[in-house]
Amino acid sequence: MPSTTVIAPSNIAFIKYWGKKDDVLRLPTNGSISMCTSGLLTKTTVEFDESLTEDQVMINETEVLDFKKDKVSKHLDRVRKMAGKTTKAKIITTNNFPSSTGLSSSASGFAALSLAATRAIGLELSEKELSILARQGSGSACRSIPSGFVEWLDGDTSEESYAHTLYPADYWDICDVVAIVNQGPKDVSSTIGQESAETSPFFQPRKQHMKAKISEIKTYMNNRDFTPFGELLEAEALELHSIMLTSRPSLIYWEPGTVKLMKFCKQLRKEGLEVYFTINTGQDVHLITQKADVARLQERLKEIPDVRETIVNYASNGAMVVE
Ligand code: PMV
Repeated sequence: MPSTTVIAPSNIAFIKYWGKKDDVLRLPTNGSISMCTSGLLTKTTVEFDESLTEDQVMINETEVLDFKKDKVSKHLDRVRKMAGKTTKAKIITTNNFPSSTGLSSSASGFAALSLAATRAIGLELSEKELSILARQGSGSACRSIPSGFVEWLDGDTSEESYAHTLYPADYWDICDVVAIVNQGPKDVSSTIGQESAETSPFFQPRKQHMKAKISEIKTYMNNRDFTPFGELLEAEALELHSIMLTSRPSLIYWEPGTVKLMKFCKQLRKEGLEVYFTINTGQDVHLITQKADVARLQERLKEIPDVRETIVNYASNGAMVVE
């Protein structure tokens, strides 16, 4: 069968996914809001081949044989089941950014795999069907199928839990400048971390206000009102991390450089440079600002020696077939 190649973006959540109401189907406790990131991309080629006796998975030019291969094979099983086939596949995937440091390579990875594998096996899924499929590989991957600014609906069934575009990529020229603090891999994966969300005393109150929070941020996005939008996304990141910090066992993803950047961000605001931070399950910091301030922000980041590299992201298209 011919091969299919797909490029998919990662995404940065302004309102986060943390905690599941169904572990098997990956139905999230609450909905979330994100932007597809133009500078964090995964390229994946899938080819189903009758002569293979097992799936072959290459990630960043290395054949993987550990749990990552199992996750990929399990996802391919979902695709094979849909197509009524059993053929094994060869998967070649590369990220243009460091993996497993909180930059959501599983989001871009499973979005790319979902589109490439379904096309390669001869299926034409709708955007909604692809988002539902990607969600089962890695929750946040469902937000890397649609383009631009995206909402993932929590849903009570698998069919109801998918992501859709709120606004196209060119709607708002805000920017996510990723400051890479440390290139080492994180010690606890999001999947494992999420299992302890319910143990935090702050998780129940969070559940109660998430619907209101989502409608609040949508209002700011609708008005392209950057200041309250930034204030809310930064408060949301701190709320997420307060849950991680108070879970049992506790989750501490920050490094000294992460904290320095959080404080620096507040300092920059005092000096008139409007920028807000958000952080996922890793030490790197996403600095959200407006296009007009990107160059000035990058210049100022040179003052922080912990910043090893920056990656500039605008809102981008979702997963797309390229070959
Ligand atoms: O989809 P996962 O299992 O990689 O979890 C993503 C969790 C966060 O990045 C912390 C939040 C989010 O909504 O992206």
